[in-house]
Amino acid sequence: MSKTVLVVGATGNLGSEIVRKLVDRGADVRTLVRKGREDGGERLRDEVTSGSVTVVVGDLNDDVQTLVPHLDGVDVIVSAVQGGHHAVTDGQVNLIHAAEVAGVPRMIPSDFSVDLHCLDYDDNVALDLRKKADETFVGSSVRPTSVLNGGFMEVMFAPFMEIVDLDAGTFSYWGDGEQPMDFTTIPDTAAYTAAAALDDSAIDRTVRVAGDVLTLTQLHTVIEKATGRTLRVHEHGSIAALEAEIDRRKSTATGPGDFVALQYQWAMITGKAKLRDLNNGDYPDITPTSVAEFLATR
Ligand SMILES: NC(=O)c1ccc[n+]([C@@H]2O[C@H](COP(=O)([O-])OP(=O)(O)OC[C@H]3O[C@@H](n4cnc5c(N)ncnc54)[C@H](OP(=O)(O)O)[C@@H]3O)[C@@H](O)[C@H]2O)c1
Repeated sequence: MSKTVLVVGATGNLGSEIVRKLVDRGADVRTLVRKGREDGGERLRDEVTSGSVTVVVGDLNDDVQTLVPHLDGVDVIVSAVQGGHHAVTDGQVNLIHAAEVAGVPRMIPSDFSVDLHCLDYDDNVALDLRKKADETFVGSSVRPTSVLNGGFMEVMFAPFMEIVDLDAGTFSYWGDGEQPMDFTTIPDTAAYTAAAALDDSAIDRTVRVAGDVLTLTQLHTVIEKATGRTLRVHEHGSIAALEAEIDRRKSTATGPGDFVALQYQWAMITGKAKLRDLNNGDYPDITPTSVAEFLATR
């Protein structure tokens, strides 16, 4: 019998891909969308229009009892919610409590990152929100599967991350460039998430996947080969210098966006949040995209 999966964040970038991969795997997909997004929005409209998913309307910050009926008969929840404390921490905690009442046995929370379980609080302001929400699983009847994918290629190679800037023709990094780092595309992360959602052996486990593992020195070479361009290299300095820069930006920040990209870089170049013992082999029907393949399509 097919599993019923409730996807939250289904109108989002990752969430809509997860929905498509679940439908492909024959799951019965229910999406919880906020009021005004009943048509699925730009990313999910086709699935909603064709009826390949069902839609229930709610907000993670609704009262727990209001969320409970939406979870009736659900085998697993997948959350790909994004936002600040309100949505990622308070909202997901609400969802776990609603799942307990509704008797939903399992959930994949919106982790989808470097190994946040290896990080301490204060290492990364965005991942702190997820660590906090994940604490709710301790002693809960709802059992988690954490899916970790390193950095999304679509995000890591955008100027926001301050590594690759093709318009400026630069490749910038801190540290010695020799620490292996994990990169996965959004569709591949979605494919592994859908597989893990339908795989009960993933209960109470962390599923670590990567499309590619490269040092920044290797990444620089791969990008130059793929683009046929020579990028000017900016060596910013040591890891200690990066830490000082994060502190400097924090002291003048108007919001986390002023320093969070550097916190992600720090988590990756120190190796502290490196994904160990990748689980790609658990799902051999998925062949993830390498960085070179990803860049060739851009
Ligand atoms: N590893 C990486 O490099 C990387 C990079 C980027 C993102 N991520 C992670 O991937 C996950 C998804 O991110 P994304 O970029 O795909 O997000 P996104 O496109 O911004 O989508 C966020 C989704 O959350 C929904 N949402 C927000 N608040 C909600 C609430 N209170 N109740 C119900 N739904 C709510 C949004 O609904 P509306 O349509 O109503 O707004 C939307 O569907 C996050 O965990 C994020 O941290 C990882």
